Amino acid sequence: MSAALQPAPEPESGALTILAIETSCDESAVAILRQSGTEPAEILCSLVSSQIQLHRSYGGVVPEVASRNHSLILRTLVENALDHAALQARDVDAFVATRGPGLSSSLLVGHTMAKALAAASGRHFLSVNHMEGHLLSPFLSGQATSWGSSGIKIPPHLALIVSGGHTMLVHARKAGDYHILGRTVDDAAGEAFDKVARMLGLPYPGGPEIEKQARAGDPEAFQFPRSMPGDLNFSFSGLKTAVRYTLPKVSNLTTRLPDICASFQKAVTDVLVLKSLRAAKEHGCNTITLSGGVSCNEFLRSALSDGCLSDGLRFLPCPSRLSTDNAAMIAFAALLKLQSGANGSLSEDIDPNLSLSRQDSTS
Ligand code: KG4
Ligand code: ZN
Repeated sequence: MSAALQPAPEPESGALTILAIETSCDESAVAILRQSGTEPAEILCSLVSSQIQLHRSYGGVVPEVASRNHSLILRTLVENALDHAALQARDVDAFVATRGPGLSSSLLVGHTMAKALAAASGRHFLSVNHMEGHLLSPFLSGQATSWGSSGIKIPPHLALIVSGGHTMLVHARKAGDYHILGRTVDDAAGEAFDKVARMLGLPYPGGPEIEKQARAGDPEAFQFPRSMPGDLNFSFSGLKTAVRYTLPKVSNLTTRLPDICASFQKAVTDVLVLKSLRAAKEHGCNTITLSGGVSCNEFLRSALSDGCLSDGLRFLPCPSRLSTDNAAMIAFAALLKLQSGANGSLSEDIDPNLSLSRQDSTS
C-alpha cells in the first residue's frame, strides 16, 4: 500500500495528538492522548468496550467472536472518542495501533482501521508492541519521569508485567531498551487465575472473582506449591494441578471456596514478589514497576509494595484504570517512539508473536 503520509511529527513541535486503537484480544479500545511542551501526557479520552459477556458462556476468549465484534464496534468508538475530545480526524497527528502480540484476527481489525484513518487523513501511522504499552503504563501520569533532549525519559527499572497472556520480568534500561530476564514457561499468571476460577465454577475472567472470594479466606489454609526454578522464569501449571487434585478432597467446597482462593492467590503472589525482588537485586535496579491486568490485584500490589519497602526499593504500580487492556497505554508507547524519531509505514504488518526484546528505541 502506498499513500502520501505526513512525516513523523517533530518532538519539539509543541502539542502532539495521538489516537490509538487496541484490539489485541477481547477489549476494543480507543484513546486520544495529547502531549504539550514538557507537560505530562494528558489522556483526552480513553474508551474500552469489553466483550466479557460475549465470551463468558465459552469460559474464555473465542478469536472469531472477538474479531467480529471489534469490527462492529470500532468505528463507533473512534467517532465517540473524537467527539468526546472535541476533535476531528484532521486534528490528530498520528494514528497508532497495537501490532502484537495477540490474536491475529483481532490485531488485524485495529491495525487496519488505524492505517485507513492515517491514509484517509494523510497523517502519520505507527504500530507498537502491546507489552511495551503495559510496561510503560506506570509512567503515563508523569510519575518518576524527566524530560530529555528527545522528550520524555523513563528511569531504568525492573518491570513485572502480569497479564492474561504473559508473565515477564524485564530489565528496562530506557524506553525501547528491554532485556527480558524471565517469563512463564507454561501458564501466564492471569491464565492461571482464569483456569483455577473455571475449576471452581467462577465466571470468566477469573482473576477479579478469585480476589473477591479470597478477601474472606485464610491464605494459609491450604499449602499449595510455589514453583521456584533457580532462574527468573515462572511456572504456574504445577500450582494449577495442585488445586485440581485438592478439590475432590474438600468436603464442603462452597464454604471452603474463600480459603482455596486466598491460598491460591498467596501462592501466585509469593512467587511473583520473590522473583521480582531477586531480579532487581541481581540487576542493580532500585525501582520496580508493576503492570498488566493481574496488577489490579490488591493482595499482589500490597505484597510487592511491602517487599520493595523492606528492600529499600521504589515501587511504581500502574494505576488500576490502566492495568487491564486499554488504548491509552498504546498511545503513550507510541508517543515515546515518535519522540525518539520512529517512523511507521503503511506496509507494516501485524505480528501475533511480536517480542519485546527484538525492538529498539528507533524502530
Ligand atoms: O492485561 P490484560 O487485561 O489482558 C492481557 O493482555 O492478557 O489481563 C487480563 C488478565 C485476566 O487473566 C484477568 O483474570 C486478570 O488479568 N485480572 C486479575 C485481576 N483483574 C484482572 N487477576 C487477578 N486479580 C485481579 N483483580
Ligand atoms: Zn494486555
